[in-house]
Amino acid sequence: MACVIADNILPMSDNFKLDLPQRPRRLRRNATIRAMLEETILRPADFIAPLFVIDGKGEPEPVKSMPGVSRLNIRDLVKECRALHKLGVPAVALFPKLDAKFKNAEGSKALDEDGLILRAVRAVKKAVPELMITTDVALDPFTTHGHDGVLTAAKDDVDNDRTVGILCDMAVLHAQAGVDIVAPSDMMDGRIGAIRESLDDEDFENTGIMAYSAKFNSAYYGPFRDAVGSAKAAGTNVLSKATYQLNPANRREAMGEATLDLEEGADIIMVKPAGTYLDIIREIRDFSDKPVAAYQVSGEYSQIHAAAKLGWLDYDKVRHESLLAIKRAGADLILTYFAKEMAKLLK
Ligand code: PBG
Repeated sequence: MACVIADNILPMSDNFKLDLPQRPRRLRRNATIRAMLEETILRPADFIAPLFVIDGKGEPEPVKSMPGVSRLNIRDLVKECRALHKLGVPAVALFPKLDAKFKNAEGSKALDEDGLILRAVRAVKKAVPELMITTDVALDPFTTHGHDGVLTAAKDDVDNDRTVGILCDMAVLHAQAGVDIVAPSDMMDGRIGAIRESLDDEDFENTGIMAYSAKFNSAYYGPFRDAVGSAKAAGTNVLSKATYQLNPANRREAMGEATLDLEEGADIIMVKPAGTYLDIIREIRDFSDKPVAAYQVSGEYSQIHAAAKLGWLDYDKVRHESLLAIKRAGADLILTYFAKEMAKLLK
Protein backbone atom coordinates (compact mmCIF):
# COMPACT_ATOMS: atom_id res chain seq x y z
CA MET A 1 0.00 0.00 0.00
CA ALA A 2 1.37 3.42 -0.88
CA CYS A 3 1.20 6.12 1.77
CA VAL A 4 1.27 9.85 1.41
CA ILE A 5 3.96 11.73 3.30
CA ALA A 6 3.91 15.49 2.81
CA ASP A 7 3.93 16.14 -0.93
CA ASN A 8 5.88 13.04 -1.89
CA ILE A 9 4.27 9.78 -2.71
CA LEU A 10 6.58 7.21 -1.26
CA PRO A 11 5.92 3.47 -1.31
CA MET A 12 5.87 2.58 2.37
CA SER A 13 7.50 -0.81 1.73
CA ASP A 14 10.74 0.90 0.74
CA ASN A 15 11.77 1.75 4.25
CA PHE A 16 9.18 0.15 6.44
CA LYS A 17 10.62 -1.58 9.50
CA LEU A 18 8.73 -3.35 12.25
CA ASP A 19 10.17 -3.30 15.71
CA LEU A 20 9.30 -6.87 16.75
CA PRO A 21 10.43 -8.71 19.86
CA GLN A 22 9.24 -11.98 18.29
CA ARG A 23 9.90 -13.07 14.72
CA PRO A 24 8.60 -16.66 14.47
CA ARG A 25 9.88 -16.94 10.89
CA ARG A 26 13.45 -16.98 12.31
CA LEU A 27 12.85 -20.63 13.16
CA ARG A 28 11.55 -21.52 9.73
CA ARG A 29 14.40 -20.11 7.65
CA ASN A 30 15.81 -23.28 6.21
CA ALA A 31 15.22 -27.01 5.99
CA THR A 32 17.72 -27.83 8.71
CA ILE A 33 16.18 -25.63 11.34
CA ARG A 34 12.72 -26.77 10.34
CA ALA A 35 13.75 -30.40 10.77
CA MET A 36 15.30 -29.57 14.15
CA LEU A 37 12.06 -28.17 15.40
CA GLU A 38 9.65 -30.71 13.99
CA GLU A 39 7.15 -31.58 16.73
CA THR A 40 5.52 -34.62 15.21
CA ILE A 41 7.42 -37.40 13.49
CA LEU A 42 5.88 -40.46 11.88
CA ARG A 43 7.59 -43.82 12.30
CA PRO A 44 6.75 -47.36 11.16
CA ALA A 45 5.84 -48.36 14.72
CA ASP A 46 2.93 -45.90 14.65
CA PHE A 47 0.99 -48.01 12.20
CA ILE A 48 -1.36 -50.96 12.25
CA ALA A 49 -2.04 -52.44 8.81
CA PRO A 50 -5.60 -53.59 8.11
CA LEU A 51 -5.62 -56.66 5.85
CA PHE A 52 -8.45 -58.57 4.17
CA VAL A 53 -8.34 -62.36 4.00
CA ILE A 54 -10.19 -64.80 1.75
CA ASP A 55 -10.46 -68.56 1.55
CA GLY A 56 -8.86 -70.75 -1.06
CA LYS A 57 -5.66 -70.57 -3.05
CA GLY A 58 -6.66 -67.96 -5.62
CA GLU A 59 -4.87 -64.85 -6.78
CA PRO A 60 -5.15 -61.65 -4.74
CA GLU A 61 -8.51 -59.98 -5.40
CA PRO A 62 -8.14 -56.23 -5.85
CA VAL A 63 -10.78 -54.17 -4.06
CA LYS A 64 -12.05 -51.87 -6.80
CA SER A 65 -12.75 -48.86 -4.62
CA MET A 66 -9.43 -49.17 -2.75
CA PRO A 67 -6.51 -48.95 -5.22
CA GLY A 68 -3.53 -50.98 -4.03
CA VAL A 69 -5.58 -53.05 -1.58
CA SER A 70 -6.36 -56.70 -2.31
CA ARG A 71 -8.02 -59.51 -0.44
CA LEU A 72 -5.40 -62.19 0.15
CA ASN A 73 -5.56 -65.92 0.65
CA ILE A 74 -3.96 -67.18 3.85
CA ARG A 75 -0.64 -68.01 2.21
CA ASP A 76 -0.29 -64.55 0.69
CA LEU A 77 -1.51 -62.99 3.93
CA VAL A 78 1.32 -64.67 5.82
CA LYS A 79 3.81 -63.35 3.25
CA GLU A 80 2.41 -59.85 3.61
CA CYS A 81 2.63 -60.07 7.40
CA ARG A 82 6.27 -61.15 7.20
CA ALA A 83 7.01 -58.17 4.94
CA LEU A 84 5.22 -55.75 7.27
CA HIS A 85 7.09 -57.08 10.28
CA LYS A 86 10.41 -56.67 8.44
CA LEU A 87 9.49 -53.07 7.69
CA GLY A 88 8.88 -52.36 11.36
CA VAL A 89 5.08 -52.32 11.33
CA PRO A 90 4.24 -53.83 14.72
CA ALA A 91 0.66 -54.96 14.17
CA VAL A 92 -1.99 -56.01 11.69
CA ALA A 93 -5.78 -55.86 11.88
CA LEU A 94 -7.33 -58.83 10.11
CA PHE A 95 -10.74 -58.82 8.44
CA PRO A 96 -12.32 -61.86 6.76
CA LYS A 97 -14.28 -61.69 3.52
CA LEU A 98 -16.59 -64.67 3.57
CA ASP A 99 -18.18 -66.41 0.64
CA ALA A 100 -21.85 -65.44 0.53
CA LYS A 101 -22.78 -69.09 1.06
CA PHE A 102 -21.24 -69.03 4.54
CA LYS A 103 -23.29 -66.07 5.72
CA ASN A 104 -26.61 -66.28 7.52
CA ALA A 105 -28.85 -64.03 9.59
CA GLU A 106 -27.22 -65.20 12.83
CA GLY A 107 -23.65 -64.84 11.58
CA SER A 108 -22.95 -68.30 12.97
CA LYS A 109 -19.68 -68.71 11.05
CA ALA A 110 -18.23 -66.19 13.50
CA LEU A 111 -18.10 -69.02 16.05
CA ASP A 112 -16.74 -71.70 13.74
CA GLU A 113 -13.47 -72.88 15.28
CA ASP A 114 -12.22 -73.76 11.84
CA GLY A 115 -13.50 -70.54 10.29
CA LEU A 116 -11.43 -68.42 7.91
CA ILE A 117 -10.36 -65.73 10.36
CA LEU A 118 -9.20 -68.19 13.02
CA ARG A 119 -7.21 -70.20 10.47
CA ALA A 120 -5.65 -66.97 9.27
CA VAL A 121 -4.73 -65.91 12.80
CA ARG A 122 -3.12 -69.26 13.59
CA ALA A 123 -1.10 -69.19 10.37
CA VAL A 124 0.15 -65.63 10.92
CA LYS A 125 0.97 -66.22 14.59
CA LYS A 126 2.93 -69.32 13.71
CA ALA A 127 4.92 -67.64 10.94
CA VAL A 128 5.55 -64.25 12.58
CA PRO A 129 5.04 -64.64 16.33
CA GLU A 130 6.39 -61.16 17.15
CA LEU A 131 3.79 -59.42 15.02
CA MET A 132 0.81 -58.26 17.09
CA ILE A 133 -2.50 -59.43 15.73
CA THR A 134 -5.73 -57.57 16.28
CA THR A 135 -9.07 -58.74 14.94
CA ASP A 136 -12.45 -57.13 14.66
CA VAL A 137 -14.94 -58.64 17.05
CA ALA A 138 -18.21 -57.90 15.26
CA LEU A 139 -20.65 -59.88 13.18
CA ASP A 140 -20.91 -57.81 9.99
CA PRO A 141 -18.65 -59.99 7.81
CA PHE A 142 -20.75 -63.01 8.81
CA THR A 143 -24.37 -61.82 8.51
CA THR A 144 -26.46 -61.85 5.35
CA HIS A 145 -28.01 -58.52 6.35
CA GLY A 146 -24.59 -56.95 6.97
CA HIS A 147 -25.40 -55.67 10.44
CA ASP A 148 -22.85 -55.92 13.21
CA GLY A 149 -25.12 -58.06 15.36
CA VAL A 150 -28.04 -60.46 15.33
CA LEU A 151 -31.53 -59.05 14.94
CA THR A 152 -34.50 -59.14 17.30
CA ALA A 153 -37.46 -61.42 16.51
CA ALA A 154 -39.31 -58.44 15.02
CA LYS A 155 -36.17 -57.70 12.91
CA ASP A 156 -36.50 -54.04 13.72
CA ASP A 157 -33.39 -53.74 15.87
CA VAL A 158 -30.06 -55.36 16.58
CA ASP A 159 -30.48 -57.48 19.71
CA ASN A 160 -27.86 -55.80 21.89
CA ASP A 161 -27.50 -58.33 24.66
CA ARG A 162 -27.71 -61.47 22.56
CA THR A 163 -25.10 -59.95 20.24
CA VAL A 164 -22.77 -59.21 23.16
CA GLY A 165 -23.07 -62.85 24.28
CA ILE A 166 -21.89 -63.98 20.84
CA LEU A 167 -19.05 -61.44 20.84
CA CYS A 168 -17.81 -62.85 24.17
CA ASP A 169 -17.53 -66.35 22.68
CA MET A 170 -15.96 -64.90 19.57
CA ALA A 171 -13.34 -62.98 21.57
CA VAL A 172 -12.36 -66.12 23.47
CA LEU A 173 -12.00 -68.09 20.22
CA HIS A 174 -9.84 -65.31 18.80
CA ALA A 175 -7.65 -65.27 21.91
CA GLN A 176 -7.26 -69.05 21.74
CA ALA A 177 -6.15 -68.79 18.12
CA GLY A 178 -3.44 -66.28 19.05
CA VAL A 179 -4.96 -62.81 18.75
CA ASP A 180 -3.06 -60.39 20.98
CA ILE A 181 -5.61 -57.59 21.05
CA VAL A 182 -9.29 -58.05 20.26
CA ALA A 183 -11.06 -55.06 18.77
CA PRO A 184 -14.79 -54.98 19.44
CA SER A 185 -16.08 -52.74 16.69
CA ASP A 186 -19.85 -53.03 16.81
CA MET A 187 -20.71 -50.28 19.35
CA MET A 188 -23.15 -52.48 21.31
CA ASP A 189 -23.68 -51.43 24.93
CA GLY A 190 -21.74 -53.30 27.60
CA ARG A 191 -19.56 -55.26 25.21
CA ILE A 192 -16.19 -54.24 26.65
CA GLY A 193 -16.99 -55.29 30.22
CA ALA A 194 -18.57 -58.55 29.12
CA ILE A 195 -15.67 -59.42 26.81
CA ARG A 196 -13.12 -58.57 29.51
CA GLU A 197 -14.89 -60.89 31.92
CA SER A 198 -15.12 -63.73 29.40
CA LEU A 199 -11.44 -63.44 28.50
CA ASP A 200 -10.43 -63.39 32.17
CA ASP A 201 -12.66 -66.39 32.95
CA GLU A 202 -10.81 -68.35 30.28
CA ASP A 203 -7.40 -67.21 31.59
CA PHE A 204 -6.80 -64.76 28.78
CA GLU A 205 -6.09 -61.87 31.12
CA ASN A 206 -3.15 -60.92 28.88
CA THR A 207 -5.28 -60.52 25.80
CA GLY A 208 -5.87 -56.81 25.31
CA ILE A 209 -8.98 -54.96 24.23
CA MET A 210 -8.80 -52.13 21.74
CA ALA A 211 -12.27 -50.64 21.95
CA TYR A 212 -13.81 -48.93 18.97
CA SER A 213 -15.21 -46.44 21.49
CA ALA A 214 -15.90 -43.48 19.28
CA LYS A 215 -16.99 -45.12 16.08
CA PHE A 216 -19.10 -42.74 14.07
CA ASN A 217 -21.85 -43.64 11.64
CA SER A 218 -19.73 -42.50 8.76
CA ALA A 219 -20.12 -42.48 4.99
CA TYR A 220 -16.34 -42.98 4.79
CA TYR A 221 -16.75 -46.75 5.39
CA GLY A 222 -18.17 -47.29 1.90
CA PRO A 223 -15.11 -48.88 0.25
CA PHE A 224 -14.52 -51.19 3.25
CA ARG A 225 -18.03 -52.53 2.88
CA ASP A 226 -17.15 -53.45 -0.71
CA ALA A 227 -14.04 -55.16 0.60
CA VAL A 228 -15.83 -57.39 3.15
CA GLY A 229 -19.16 -57.49 1.34
CA SER A 230 -21.25 -55.92 4.12
CA ALA A 231 -22.64 -53.12 1.97
CA LYS A 232 -26.21 -54.27 2.35
CA ALA A 233 -26.82 -52.94 5.87
CA ALA A 234 -25.73 -49.48 4.86
CA GLY A 235 -28.52 -49.32 2.32
CA THR A 236 -31.37 -50.68 4.43
CA ASN A 237 -33.64 -48.02 5.76
CA VAL A 238 -35.67 -50.23 8.12
CA LEU A 239 -32.66 -50.56 10.38
CA SER A 240 -29.66 -48.33 10.14
CA LYS A 241 -26.19 -48.59 11.65
CA ALA A 242 -27.09 -45.21 13.18
CA THR A 243 -28.87 -47.18 15.91
CA TYR A 244 -25.48 -48.28 17.21
CA GLN A 245 -22.74 -46.11 15.68
CA LEU A 246 -22.33 -42.52 16.88
CA ASN A 247 -23.94 -39.51 15.27
CA PRO A 248 -21.12 -37.56 13.54
CA ALA A 249 -22.55 -34.42 15.13
CA ASN A 250 -21.90 -35.58 18.69
CA ARG A 251 -18.76 -34.86 20.66
CA ARG A 252 -20.13 -35.26 24.18
CA GLU A 253 -21.70 -38.57 23.29
CA ALA A 254 -18.33 -39.78 22.01
CA MET A 255 -16.71 -38.82 25.30
CA GLY A 256 -19.44 -40.70 27.15
CA GLU A 257 -18.69 -43.85 25.14
CA ALA A 258 -14.97 -43.54 25.80
CA THR A 259 -15.63 -43.10 29.53
CA LEU A 260 -17.79 -46.21 29.65
CA ASP A 261 -15.28 -48.32 27.73
CA LEU A 262 -12.47 -47.23 30.05
CA GLU A 263 -14.59 -48.11 33.09
CA GLU A 264 -15.38 -51.47 31.54
CA GLY A 265 -11.71 -52.29 31.05
CA ALA A 266 -10.60 -51.12 27.60
CA ASP A 267 -6.82 -51.02 27.14
CA ILE A 268 -6.78 -48.84 24.03
CA ILE A 269 -9.47 -46.39 22.95
CA MET A 270 -10.13 -45.99 19.25
CA VAL A 271 -11.59 -43.12 17.28
CA LYS A 272 -12.91 -43.84 13.81
CA PRO A 273 -12.79 -42.35 11.19
CA ALA A 274 -9.68 -40.33 11.97
CA GLY A 275 -9.16 -37.35 9.66
CA THR A 276 -12.62 -35.89 10.08
CA TYR A 277 -12.61 -36.48 13.86
CA LEU A 278 -9.32 -34.92 14.95
CA ASP A 279 -11.10 -32.95 17.67
CA ILE A 280 -12.33 -36.19 19.22
CA ILE A 281 -8.85 -37.74 19.08
CA ARG A 282 -7.41 -34.72 20.86
CA GLU A 283 -10.10 -34.64 23.49
CA ILE A 284 -9.77 -38.32 24.35
CA ARG A 285 -5.97 -38.00 24.38
CA ASP A 286 -6.22 -35.17 26.93
CA PHE A 287 -8.87 -36.89 28.97
CA SER A 288 -7.34 -40.35 29.40
CA ASP A 289 -3.88 -41.76 30.01
CA LYS A 290 -4.64 -44.86 27.94
CA PRO A 291 -3.25 -45.15 24.43
CA VAL A 292 -5.47 -43.73 21.72
CA ALA A 293 -5.77 -45.41 18.32
CA ALA A 294 -7.27 -43.74 15.27
CA TYR A 295 -8.54 -45.56 12.21
CA GLN A 296 -7.90 -43.78 8.94
CA VAL A 297 -10.72 -45.60 7.20
CA SER A 298 -11.22 -46.84 3.68
CA GLY A 299 -12.94 -43.69 2.40
CA GLU A 300 -10.13 -41.48 3.69
CA TYR A 301 -7.66 -43.67 1.81
CA SER A 302 -9.69 -43.89 -1.37
CA GLN A 303 -10.39 -40.18 -1.66
CA ILE A 304 -6.68 -39.43 -1.64
CA HIS A 305 -6.14 -42.00 -4.39
CA ALA A 306 -9.03 -40.62 -6.42
CA ALA A 307 -7.89 -37.01 -6.25
CA ALA A 308 -4.31 -38.01 -7.06
CA LYS A 309 -5.47 -40.06 -10.04
CA LEU A 310 -7.25 -37.00 -11.39
CA GLY A 311 -4.05 -35.03 -10.94
CA TRP A 312 -5.73 -32.75 -8.42
CA LEU A 313 -3.62 -33.56 -5.37
CA ASP A 314 -0.04 -34.65 -4.80
CA TYR A 315 -0.40 -38.25 -3.59
CA ASP A 316 2.80 -38.52 -1.52
CA LYS A 317 2.38 -35.18 0.19
CA VAL A 318 -1.29 -35.54 0.99
CA ARG A 319 -0.78 -39.07 2.29
CA HIS A 320 1.95 -37.84 4.62
CA GLU A 321 -0.01 -34.80 5.76
CA SER A 322 -3.15 -36.83 6.43
CA LEU A 323 -1.23 -39.17 8.77
CA LEU A 324 0.79 -36.42 10.38
CA ALA A 325 -2.43 -34.61 11.29
CA ILE A 326 -3.81 -37.72 12.96
CA LYS A 327 -0.67 -38.20 15.01
CA ARG A 328 -0.46 -34.51 15.88
CA ALA A 329 -4.05 -34.63 17.09
CA GLY A 330 -2.91 -37.19 19.67
CA ALA A 331 -3.14 -40.67 18.18
CA ASP A 332 -0.56 -43.12 19.53
CA LEU A 333 -1.47 -45.69 16.89
CA ILE A 334 -2.91 -45.29 13.42
CA LEU A 335 -4.74 -47.99 11.54
CA THR A 336 -4.14 -47.14 7.91
CA TYR A 337 -4.12 -48.78 4.51
CA PHE A 338 -0.99 -46.71 3.82
CA ALA A 339 0.94 -48.61 6.54
CA LYS A 340 3.22 -50.58 4.25
CA GLU A 341 4.09 -47.75 1.86
CA MET A 342 4.72 -45.41 4.75
CA ALA A 343 6.89 -47.91 6.60
CA LYS A 344 8.98 -48.41 3.44
CA LEU A 345 9.40 -44.71 3.12
CA LEU A 346 10.24 -44.02 6.75
CA LYS A 347 12.50 -46.95 7.43
C1 PBG B 1 -17.43 -53.10 11.08
C2 PBG B 1 -16.26 -52.34 10.62
C3 PBG B 1 -16.30 -51.35 9.63
C4 PBG B 1 -15.00 -50.89 9.47
C5 PBG B 1 -14.17 -51.60 10.35
N1 PBG B 1 -14.99 -52.49 11.07
C6 PBG B 1 -17.41 -50.87 8.77
C7 PBG B 1 -18.77 -50.66 9.27
O1 PBG B 1 -18.98 -50.29 10.42
O2 PBG B 1 -19.67 -50.89 8.46
C8 PBG B 1 -14.65 -49.83 8.50
C9 PBG B 1 -13.23 -49.66 8.17
C10 PBG B 1 -12.96 -48.86 6.96
O3 PBG B 1 -13.83 -48.20 6.38
O4 PBG B 1 -11.78 -48.87 6.55
N2 PBG B 1 -17.28 -54.05 12.02
